[in-house]
Order: sequence, then C-alpha cells, then structure tokens
Amino acid sequence: MATLRLGDTAPDFNAETTEGTIQFHDWLGDSWGVLFSHPADYTPVCTTELGTVAQYTDQFKKRNTKVAALSVDGLESHKGWIKDINETQNTTVNFPIIADEDKKVANLYDMIHPNADNNLTVRSVFIIDPSKKIKLILTYPASTGRNFDELIRVIDSLQLTAYQKLATPANWKQGDDCVISPAVSNEEIPELFPKGHTEIKPYLRMTPQPDSK
Ligand code: BEZ
Repeated sequence: MATLRLGDTAPDFNAETTEGTIQFHDWLGDSWGVLFSHPADYTPVCTTELGTVAQYTDQFKKRNTKVAALSVDGLESHKGWIKDINETQNTTVNFPIIADEDKKVANLYDMIHPNADNNLTVRSVFIIDPSKKIKLILTYPASTGRNFDELIRVIDSLQLTAYQKLATPANWKQGDDCVISPAVSNEEIPELFPKGHTEIKPYLRMTPQPDSK
C-alpha cells in the first residue's frame, strides 16, 4: 500500500453503506467529497461527530460537497447506531456510513495506524475535488473530535483558490482579504482583481475576496 499524498487520485472502491452499495467515484460524480473515518460505532466522541456532520447537511450541500463516513463496524451496527445519533444529537443522519468490516477501504486510505490501534481506524479526513484529486489529508487521534467548521472553511478556501489565482492567509474565513498568488505579476493585478490590492511586501500582496463567479 502506497502512502496517499496531496494531488494523488483518491482510490476508487465499491462498498456497502447505510445508503446502499456505492462505487465511490460514481457516487461522487461531479461533486467535491469528504471521506472521513471514525474508530467505532456506539462510542461517545464519534456520536457527536456524526451528529454534527448531519446537522451541517445544508452547509455541505451549498458547497456541492458529498460526505461519507467509515468505520470497520458492520452494516447492522451502523444502522442501529444511527438511531442513537439521531435521538441524542437531534438530527437525521442522511449521508452514507461505509461498513468496512474487511478493512478494504481503511487499508486503501491508510486509515489504520497500528501504533495507535491495530484494529480500528483513526480519525482520518480526505477532501477530494471534482477531478477526484486529494486536496487535503488530516489525521486526528481517537480522543479528539474534529472541528467541522474548519473543514467547511478549508472547502471554501479550496473552492476559491481552485478558480482564482489566490491563496488564503492564516485564519482566513469567507469575506476576508486574500493573498495574491506569487505567480501573478503586478501588471496583471488590475484586470484579475479589480477591487484593488495592498502591497505589504513585494511577495505579500493582499486583495479583497472577489465576488463569487
Ligand atoms: C469515541 O468516539 O468516543 C472514542 C472512540 C474510540 C476511542 C476513544 C474514544
């Protein structure tokens, strides 16, 4: 198993999920994707995470992003646990949870880190663009629930910078000023970024976030 890196094509797979069998690439279609693993069903932190993702359904939908969860538990376990998530987190889980009992997908995506736990997936996150390239990889320990606001923020940055010659600075959020890509010459700036720019250093040029196209 080769280590996955940014820019690699996300491996395709066929898997049983709580929303039926999926062929991952076909299921993604033209959408952006988030594939994230959790250690085990019927555990407290995972329950809050999957509840939060369900509550963020509209946020992901607005960003043309499909979300799939994964653990090495079976389908019946996932289905029973979803009832608990819906009840305790006041939501409706409406995204697929992959039942990866044979660890096929976990191994493809290197989600089991044996020195952390030999059998269970860690909290991995992969953000995948519409051409199926991996744009972000995160790994969290079992004891730390993820910040899904941060994932939404990264998707916003990725979607902005995919289509404009921009990058986003530390702690950037929607509406904040952006960094002009070093590949853009000063002469090109007025046409590309008509809202103007500030040159703090020749290599650090800021511009207001362009209106979305
Ligand atoms: C949890 O989701 O609460 C959890 C799962 C595995 C290990 C520790 C915590």
